[in-house]
Amino acid sequence: MAGRTAVGLDIGTSSVRAAQVTVTKGTPVLERFGQVALPPGVVRDGEVIDPDAVAESIKHLWSSAKIGKKDVVLGVSNQRVFVRQVDLSWMPADELKASLKYQAADLVPMPIDEAVLDFVPVEEVIVEGQRYVRGLLVAAAEDVVLSSIQAVQKAGLRPAGVDLTSFAVLRASGSGGLGLEGPEAVVDIGARVTNVVVHEGGVPRFVRILLLGGDDVTGAMVERLGIPAEEAEMLKRDPQALAAPAAAEARRIFDASVAEFVEEVRGSIDFYLASSGSRPFSRVVLTGGGALASGLAQRLATAVRTPVVLGHPFAAVQVGKTGLTPEQMQYVEPMAAVPVGLAMGAV
Ligand SMILES: Nc1ncnc2c1ncn2[C@@H]1O[C@H](COP(=O)(O)OP(=O)(O)OP(=O)(O)O)[C@@H](O)[C@H]1O
Ligand SMILES: [Mg+2]
Repeated sequence: MAGRTAVGLDIGTSSVRAAQVTVTKGTPVLERFGQVALPPGVVRDGEVIDPDAVAESIKHLWSSAKIGKKDVVLGVSNQRVFVRQVDLSWMPADELKASLKYQAADLVPMPIDEAVLDFVPVEEVIVEGQRYVRGLLVAAAEDVVLSSIQAVQKAGLRPAGVDLTSFAVLRASGSGGLGLEGPEAVVDIGARVTNVVVHEGGVPRFVRILLLGGDDVTGAMVERLGIPAEEAEMLKRDPQALAAPAAAEARRIFDASVAEFVEEVRGSIDFYLASSGSRPFSRVVLTGGGALASGLAQRLATAVRTPVVLGHPFAAVQVGKTGLTPEQMQYVEPMAAVPVGLAMGAV
């Protein structure tokens, strides 16, 4: 019997990426993976600005990665996505789903008729004798989702679902809570968007979307050194060039920018600890291209006094015959958590 298949499509600021996953005998198998760079400016701050240009890159991705399926699951993550822990009046799951719009109306900072809603139940709680379901309420402005859907349709594909990017990252790179003492934070650092998601035992507890990423480091170097973006990008990615005596000023700007970023992530982690009263974090897992910045992981480990490791989204699946060489797989793995996690959530 053929297994179930899903394709996760991540429309990032710098690239589009797709992962095709099939569940065979209970095991998710990665069958296809690919990524294609986007022209600058067509996706801004996590929102599709130019659906036609994005559609062209998606078409190119489908042919280059030889993806046969047309149904895709999309990720959403930007400033107009709202995620908060809330307590909703207890009722059976289907009724809760049906009444979500009414229960959420006063809780989300946007007109409820213009929002796409989701609720992830975490636990039941009793407050002053009343029974509630505590969980994460997700609301995304509909027009943000629509521009991604438009790009997908223009590429000749069918949007089969939309998922919060943070949940995808958690699925593909979180430990699932096995053998961990305290909460774990999974942080995907992109070009312009960083997803921070905290889980305990695999259950998502906290999500924060920061409009910050690797491009902010490049941007600071461009601005302060007066060099072109391509040059700043190359310099940023080469720790040896950055360490050269002639690059002392570049190094200072790079370090200051990375330090600023680390402070933002630390802020989210400290906020979770303070507001949840939870045990100390057991570890932080990093994914995304921005996590590769030299020294970032060590700085973050020092700032949050917690071990920081790089995530391995390809370890969450069995890698099939993707057609990519081991070197190519190694190169793309840091950027694979979102599409792999989106596909995993849909199979
Ligand atoms: N080796 C490296 N060293 C430092 N930075 C890197 C390296 N490789 C990639 N980056 C940075 O990673 C960022 C891109 O990461 P990624 O591809 O995960 O983002 P994206 O998904 O396209 O964008 P976003 O998630 O923000 O919408 C860029 O800022 C890029 O400069
Ligand atoms: Mg990304």
